Amino acid sequence: MEQTKTPLAHGFDIGAIRKAAANLDEGAVTDGYQADRDAVVQMLNDALATELVCVLRYKRHYYTVSGLSNGPIKAEFLEHAQQEQEHADALAERIVQLNGSPNFNPATLVARSHAEYDESDDVQAMIRANLIAERVAIESYRQMIAAIGDKDPTTKHLLIGIMAVEEEHADDMRDLLAK
Ligand SMILES: [Fe+2]
Ligand SMILES: [Fe+2]
Repeated sequence: MEQTKTPLAHGFDIGAIRKAAANLDEGAVTDGYQADRDAVVQMLNDALATELVCVLRYKRHYYTVSGLSNGPIKAEFLEHAQQEQEHADALAERIVQLNGSPNFNPATLVARSHAEYDESDDVQAMIRANLIAERVAIESYRQMIAAIGDKDPTTKHLLIGIMAVEEEHADDMRDLLAK
């Protein structure tokens, strides 16, 4: 039997919409998904590795920085560590929505991260390392957003939100740099 076409008032073909939605095993990904799903998952996994390294770097800085006058800096490191963890969680969730597999493998984490870990003992060296890492994150999110274009609005929206927080982080670190 021929599929009935039921055009809606605003021109959508509800038959085609239902057909594109039919494969329930694909969860959130319909036939109309426009981006290269594997490439997007790969990109999101690179970002996940970057965020996880950023969590570890900020945590290490938070626990090792000392000195009476460094309290506000310590608090800033902790806040950033928590926000990087939120980014990692959001990225992992999006990877699963796209039917990908989030890579948390610690053996390859640093090699897959865009930003670097840091073992400085001096607080100003920590701040500088964080500023560099934040600027690396901003630039890599900018490139990911450009690569996705309008093909996956949900992922693009997520990355724009994360990038805005990285920009705040970079600004925070610059404010803490000794002039
Ligand atoms: Fe982040
Ligand atoms: Fe950040």
